[in-house]
Amino acid sequence: MTTHPNIPPVDVSHQTEPLIDELKQAITGVLETRQFVLGEDVAAFEKEIAAYLGVEHAVGLNSGTDALTLALHAMDIGPGDEVITSPFTFYGTVEPISLRGATPVFADIDPATFNLDAESVREAITPRTRAILPVDLYGQGPDLYALLQLAREHDLYLIEDACQAIGGEYDGSKLGTLGDAGAFSFYPTKNLGCAGDGGLMVTPHADVAERVRHLRNHAQVSRGWHEELGYNSRLDGIQAAVLRVRLKHLDAWNTDRQRVAARYSELLADTPGVSTPVVQQKCRHVFHQYTIRIADGRRDQVKEHMAAAGVGSMIYYPHPMHQLPMYRDHARPLPEAEKATDEVLSLPIWPGLEDESILRVVEALKSAME
Ligand SMILES: Cc1ncc(COP(=O)(O)O)c(C=O)c1O
Repeated sequence: MTTHPNIPPVDVSHQTEPLIDELKQAITGVLETRQFVLGEDVAAFEKEIAAYLGVEHAVGLNSGTDALTLALHAMDIGPGDEVITSPFTFYGTVEPISLRGATPVFADIDPATFNLDAESVREAITPRTRAILPVDLYGQGPDLYALLQLAREHDLYLIEDACQAIGGEYDGSKLGTLGDAGAFSFYPTKNLGCAGDGGLMVTPHADVAERVRHLRNHAQVSRGWHEELGYNSRLDGIQAAVLRVRLKHLDAWNTDRQRVAARYSELLADTPGVSTPVVQQKCRHVFHQYTIRIADGRRDQVKEHMAAAGVGSMIYYPHPMHQLPMYRDHARPLPEAEKATDEVLSLPIWPGLEDESILRVVEALKSAME
């Protein structure tokens, strides 16, 4: 019997191995200039990514979580304010709202795309609502025009959590750039990852960008002079240098993710009990995750069966945010989000994933479903 190496749920080596010489050179450059925090590479990266995204202002930060926190802060959202967001996301979407002392209010998701449902958002709006914070989950956006319309009607900010969706598009615009602010994460497993933690806040508003720049550096007005609480959330030179090398490959990587996703969808079409991802009409989905649904309470058993066959998979996310201890006392039931947490399973995906591996994943999944 031939033994095959295991297929992990994620492999980020494509972001390093083919680029190793260029990456070493870029890192050596920072070691030589000693601009370790902010500096020339950060400034150049901010310019390059702003051009790539087609946005006026881009501010390099420590993480995607900070990008949301500092955007909320720059918009003076805090105690007494409500922010409507998705319960079906990573905690890093919601934490910033609570860290600001504001209240996250959860609306339900569209079962087809796993993203915020505009009608459910409309029902959640109160006189205290200050912002809508949708998530572009797995690499595609929700119905952003409907959410923008709601934001306009009710004089609310729209802050997009695009941490999983860099390079994705909605009706020709890059995700993260449609509202008042967008947040990106460069955590190493993201479609564009750095060599540690990193993040970015983008905005069309000069005043928001200026405020976030100020806040990221301890809200320092002049040397030693501070008039409010700020943050230490500066992007490092080495991270920016790595990101500048990798940004040039992002579009090709995303296109290859689409190839993998299309192949999975083709091979899994008409598999009883399995639903493959739905791509919204206006969207360029960049498949940070390829996430299927497994019906009838069989998901966990299928995951275990696949693991026994050497195929990794992940559950994003096992708990809806409104059921976490700090939120559950005030939350209403959100049936679609709750159902999704029981059914989703993300299959291995990365640029360069070979057809042979895709076939093995599908075989393991189909055999687990029998
Ligand atoms: C949807 C979402 N929001 C927020 C974050 C937070 O980003 P970071 O880990 O860079 O703080 C992440 C990623 O980790 C994410 O996937």
